[in-house]
Amino acid sequence: MEAIILVGGFGTRLRPLTLTVPKPLLPLANIPMVERMIRNLPEIFDTAILAVNYGLNDMRKYFEGRDIGKKVIIVPEEEPLGTGGAMRNCIDYVTGTTAVFNGDVVSSINLNEMLEQHIKTKAKGTLALWKVKDPSRFGVVEFSNGEILQFQEKPEKGSELSNLINAGTYLLELEILEMIPPNQKISIERDIYPKVAGNGLHGFPFEGYFIDSGTPESYLEANFKSIGNNGTASHTGASIRGSVMIHEDAKLEHCIIGPNVIIGPKVKLEKCVIRNSVILSNVNSYGTVIEDSIIGPNIQVKNDIKQNLISPEGKIAF
Ligand code: GTP
Repeated sequence: MEAIILVGGFGTRLRPLTLTVPKPLLPLANIPMVERMIRNLPEIFDTAILAVNYGLNDMRKYFEGRDIGKKVIIVPEEEPLGTGGAMRNCIDYVTGTTAVFNGDVVSSINLNEMLEQHIKTKAKGTLALWKVKDPSRFGVVEFSNGEILQFQEKPEKGSELSNLINAGTYLLELEILEMIPPNQKISIERDIYPKVAGNGLHGFPFEGYFIDSGTPESYLEANFKSIGNNGTASHTGASIRGSVMIHEDAKLEHCIIGPNVIIGPKVKLEKCVIRNSVILSNVNSYGTVIEDSIIGPNIQVKNDIKQNLISPEGKIAF
């Protein structure tokens, strides 16, 4: 069974970081986002199809000769085709019911349960649904007896049909992929799903967590969530506080690290205090305090930093 992962976007909200590293190859707890997603697929999915535009060469280079336990097929788009067009572009590689993921979603969806529901209800499509407190910033669905009846974009307070939003994870029958016109820029959310609403489009509400890791704040949150139970309990060069992950190729001396810190490979830190931050590969620093920030790769940090994204192409405060 195949899973299509949409990994072709420009990742504009994470610029300047994504000018040098495409978003799907940015690490979450030291493993590239897209690799983590493939590794987390249930066993029934033996093939991951990556729909790629921006970052194609980097993606090819990354997966060349790398065994991550599933077959990986990279499907290039000459022009960005949007979420729907990108799925349609993969149709030759799918054999039946297909899972589709937005490549930047980190969530607690139980895909096996979702698949069981999808099969039992004989749905044409099943969309994972996440409950939000304030739906006015999102598109919500009208949801009744397990079915999605209509979509409502950014509803005004009091007029919302529900507080359930599309969580970017789908199970689709070929019939839906075939509805997408080929070789055109198409949004599955805006151009296709509204046409199927009320006619075999089902919802799978889930609880736990849902993070679209596409902004600096949510990229940090997704990283901290991804540490899970694999954190570093102790380290000779650092006093560790709370949930922390330190790559084995990092060198730390007299540092205070945590809570919520991820340190990548080839990082060298001496007399630094790091909190709530992601330090990407090959970052050097001496005597600084780094908080609530994303740093790297290949950066020397000379001053204290708070709530900044610093990459080789420039920096932003967030
Ligand atoms: P921003 O530019 O920061 O909004 O990020 P993005 O480019 O990733 O866009 P967005 O987060 O809305 O996209 C959701 C998912 O769809 C991401 O996993 C994207 O990689 C993917 N995606 C968006 N547009 C395209 C496209 O034209 N082609 C492909 N293959 N994937 C896309």
